[in-house]
Amino acid sequence: MKIEDIKTVLVVGAGAMGQQIAMNTALNGRAHDYKVILCDSFPAALEKAKKWAPEYLAGRVAKGRITQEEADKVAANLVFSDNVEEAAAQADLVIEAIIENLDAKRDLFQKISKVCKPDTILGTNSSNIVSSKLADVTEHPERLLNMHYFNPALVMQLVEIVRGPHTADETIKTAYAFAENTGKKPIIIQKEIAGFVANRINAAVTREACLLLEKGIASVEDIDTACEKGLNYPMGPFRLMDLTGLDVNYYVRRDRFAESGDPNDAPSPLVIDKVIKGEYGRKTGKGWYDYSDSKK
Ligand SMILES: NC(=O)c1ccc[n+]([C@@H]2O[C@H](COP(=O)([O-])OP(=O)(O)OC[C@H]3O[C@@H](n4cnc5c(N)ncnc54)[C@H](O)[C@@H]3O)[C@@H](O)[C@H]2O)c1
Repeated sequence: MKIEDIKTVLVVGAGAMGQQIAMNTALNGRAHDYKVILCDSFPAALEKAKKWAPEYLAGRVAKGRITQEEADKVAANLVFSDNVEEAAAQADLVIEAIIENLDAKRDLFQKISKVCKPDTILGTNSSNIVSSKLADVTEHPERLLNMHYFNPALVMQLVEIVRGPHTADETIKTAYAFAENTGKKPIIIQKEIAGFVANRINAAVTREACLLLEKGIASVEDIDTACEKGLNYPMGPFRLMDLTGLDVNYYVRRDRFAESGDPNDAPSPLVIDKVIKGEYGRKTGKGWYDYSDSKK
């Protein structure tokens, strides 16, 4: 499938990532007039996304970012469906953004690859599941790859295009061009690796920050200040962990350690301690910082 043949895009999973990937495609790809179908197997998730989309577009119009006419065109190009097989049969590109569960993703890829066109590109937005874990259930694995967006997908520009051993060059080329056509800055990851590039670099920074704290070298605040004022990071590693959730950091590192056995991958004891106390960050009102006064 060449980029000029991509007309209809199916996004499966209308959660935090899927609804924004779908909106990004319709909105920031509007010059290409992409038809986007957003699917979810849970009616409540679909209803939530249906309610959110016009509100989001109205906000863009109110801020002067797009005209009412453009918003109307985007709204007309973004449709919702609970019938994933019917939608897959029409799609030239499928971006899967369902729950992070290998069995659920394998079921879905098996189901959709049976009904979609033989040259439809199938991308998974998974942060941790590489596409080779889906290749054996997919009819045309040369069209299969990871397309990893960042949260929030309407704002973050990076898309990691990950080549599996089964992925054809043309698939990589088309996915790359599609990301560019929808306002993103893609990079190509030439070999599958857990965590891909950006999250691995972030994990290394976070690990070092925790080690410095464990050794009593500097405080949470001062380590964040070093990164923000000395390295120009928009947010220090502790502040970022509070935003994304210490529980998420714990689970990701626990799973990576279970897979690699490398002690460097294990969760920091300081993070474990916080998770045991239920201090997950902003979402619980306390993490590395206290948010009860909502000032940080
Ligand atoms: N949240 C992030 O920061 C982030 C960033 C990058 C990538 N990802 C990846 O994106 C994917 C989705 O993450 P999320 O945070 O949007 O999750 P989420 O829980 O917000 O959304 C998942 C959605 O998938 C739906 N769903 C579950 N099973 C389904 C099925 N079989 N068919 C159709 N819909 C189904 C659920 O109803 C839900 O609406 C995961 O693979 C995750 O690793 C997440």
